[in-house]
Amino acid sequence: MKHLFFVVSLMALISCGENLSKTRGEIDKTALLAKGDSIAMIAQKTLVGKLTSAISERGVPGAVAFCNLNAMPLTDSLSMSNNVGIQRLSDKNRNPANTLSSIHDKEAWTKIQKMMADTGIKDKHLLMEDKNSVYYYKAIPLGMPLCLNCHGQKDKDIAPDVFKIISEKYPQDKAIGYEAGQLRGMWKIKMPVNE
Ligand code: HEC
Repeated sequence: MKHLFFVVSLMALISCGENLSKTRGEIDKTALLAKGDSIAMIAQKTLVGKLTSAISERGVPGAVAFCNLNAMPLTDSLSMSNNVGIQRLSDKNRNPANTLSSIHDKEAWTKIQKMMADTGIKDKHLLMEDKNSVYYYKAIPLGMPLCLNCHGQKDKDIAPDVFKIISEKYPQDKAIGYEAGQLRGMWKIKMPVNE
């Protein structure tokens, strides 16, 4: 009996060890997903809040110019205050800085696309890790009709004056042609591991 117990604990040790990195213990996935969820929610609320007030104050074309100047600084300042690195990425990005660049980004994007197609999965988020960091990713669906003004179909949803300013500010824009509910992009939050 004692012997069996020893074998079982040894097996448990080995199987736990499989996912452990050599330099640190296993990450607390539940806690990191919860942390990512809360930062992503605050960031989303902040951006949508600023976007909505920019539209009501300046109209949709004015809001394009506003986002052009403020979207990055806003996510950067949220990154500073939370001590993480926050980005929004997409396969059809508007800002050239928001492209899927790392292997993690591409893998996460494929997984999130699958999660979007699976109605059984409520939280469309995941974690990736490497030696120094943990990366939290979360789907950004085109969740409000408002988004179509700048990411929908040209002429049908996007007014000519809006299209004009988008083309001026983002000559390489790929972020149009979406329909409500589709996957528009994803949050990426880089978290330090040794906290
Ligand atoms: C007034 C026009 C406008 C509206 C409305 C709008 N966006 Fe955008 N969106 C932009 C602009 C401009 C950028 C590029 C910002 C930058 O330069 O960082 C952008 C970028 C993004 C990005 C980052 C990836 C990329 O393509 O660069 C995501 C994700 C995104 N928008 C999602 C949404 C969602 C979801 C909504 C609805 C809640 C929405 N947008 C509504 C104009 C708009």
